Amino acid sequence: MFNFRNCLLTVFAMLAYPWQVAGAAAPAADLTSPHGQDIWFWLTLTLVALAIITAAYTWHVRALKRQKRALETEIRLRTAEIQAQKEELEKINQTLLKVNKRQEAQQSELTRFLAVASHDLRQPMHALNLYLGALFSFELPAAVRPVVNNLRNCARTMDDMFANLLDLSRLDAQIVEPQLQEFAIAEVLGKLDVEFTPQAIAKGLHFEIHHSMAIVNSDADLVEQILRNLIANALRYTPKGQVVVKCLEFDQQLHIAVEDTGIGISKHDQETIFEEFFQVGSASESRHSTAGMGLGLAIVQRLVRLLNIPIKLQSQPGQGSTFAISLPLAASQDVTDKHGRSKASNSASLLQALIVVIDDDESILTAMRALLELWDARVITATSGKEAMALCSEEIKIPDLLICDYRLGSNENGIDLVAKLREEFNLQIPAILITGNISPQLSEAAKTAALTLMHKPIQAENLHLNLKQLLSETKE
Ligand SMILES: Nc1ncnc2c1ncn2[C@@H]1O[C@H](COP(=O)(O)OP(=O)(O)OP(=O)(O)O)[C@@H](O)[C@H]1O
Ligand SMILES: [Mg+2]
Repeated sequence: MFNFRNCLLTVFAMLAYPWQVAGAAAPAADLTSPHGQDIWFWLTLTLVALAIITAAYTWHVRALKRQKRALETEIRLRTAEIQAQKEELEKINQTLLKVNKRQEAQQSELTRFLAVASHDLRQPMHALNLYLGALFSFELPAAVRPVVNNLRNCARTMDDMFANLLDLSRLDAQIVEPQLQEFAIAEVLGKLDVEFTPQAIAKGLHFEIHHSMAIVNSDADLVEQILRNLIANALRYTPKGQVVVKCLEFDQQLHIAVEDTGIGISKHDQETIFEEFFQVGSASESRHSTAGMGLGLAIVQRLVRLLNIPIKLQSQPGQGSTFAISLPLAASQDVTDKHGRSKASNSASLLQALIVVIDDDESILTAMRALLELWDARVITATSGKEAMALCSEEIKIPDLLICDYRLGSNENGIDLVAKLREEFNLQIPAILITGNISPQLSEAAKTAALTLMHKPIQAENLHLNLKQLLSETKE
């Protein structure tokens, strides 16, 4: 518009100039009709102006149309470009989706394969463990015994590895659903105490689990699995010193720390130890120095994520490590179960029952005592029938229950020993016979002698169930 106006003004100026000059020397004859001269002048001027305005307007409109056409062409080009890019992106997207689907399918295939493989391989492994246990309980020639022992250790390690593979594949396949409930942490800690004490004693380590009466809200089995991996690592990577499990309540949480005085983990390795198949040091070195596969902490990490609980690690190479988890405390710390019993005090409690444990293996006795005392029982431990008799005679009370290993040293066996003790007290004291021997003859003999037979390795849970049942039967 500015240009158009300027243009008009210029045209007017140009037209007016010669007229003004001519007007200065106008002939006298024109003065006769000054008005007529004015009209023609203004009429001409208006027409010229109109013509110029029309021309300028037409020119301007054309210019605008040209611009519009150019813009439309530009837009068409750009739209085509964008369309082409969009198609390209869609193609890439489709390819990515296909790759993703293929990867997902491969992942689930792998997970399924792992689950089936680890499960199917575990069955014969489990049987092998039992047979080796049974073989070991026979009188073997001195030269053969260490060989069988090594076989047993290898079989156990393989079984552990399969168990880890199975756990990892189940977690990756997302088929593990946490069952959140309120439970006494003492039950989990008690089991782990029994499980790991013999191992710690064999390695010459001080092993201690601090007692806690806390009731937490989580999944007991998964928490047990986490702590089992952490304690197993602590014992494995601690050549000397101690492994202590500490419990501390604050901020509505129970903090459980597994502390060791072991080899420690460098800052750099702390970032990667939770990855699957990772072991500190070169692979070959690890293969010799440890029996694992580098799966324990990978499982722990998946479990803590599943339970939505934090895990912390503090470690100094050469000084030791502390792995700590935090569990939410239950709102009430004296929760009763559906039968109205207090979970903290009564569900695990054996109500001060006097239990006599006879085994020729000291480490088993220590572990048993720890577990039974945790369940609130009074415990007498003895390595032979003679010692058991002597200790029982010091008691005013008749034992409520006997737990006896089948194969005792000096040619004693558990069945005969229980019979002798029952005779001594002139009472059919309930008794559990523990053995690695899976022969049907022994099962039959135990049944005839009214003994509850339990096969090694004993699960603390099963032992507790049997104890509860036998003790309640005597009361009835
Ligand atoms: N308490 C610890 N002290 C020192 N190093 C540790 C400790 N815990 C774990 N590590 C290091 O982290 C690595 C990974 O541990 P992880 O439990 O995943 O595997 P692993 O113990 O080697 O084998 P697996 O648990 O499968 O039997 C271990 O190989 C070890 O190097
Ligand atoms: Mg481990």
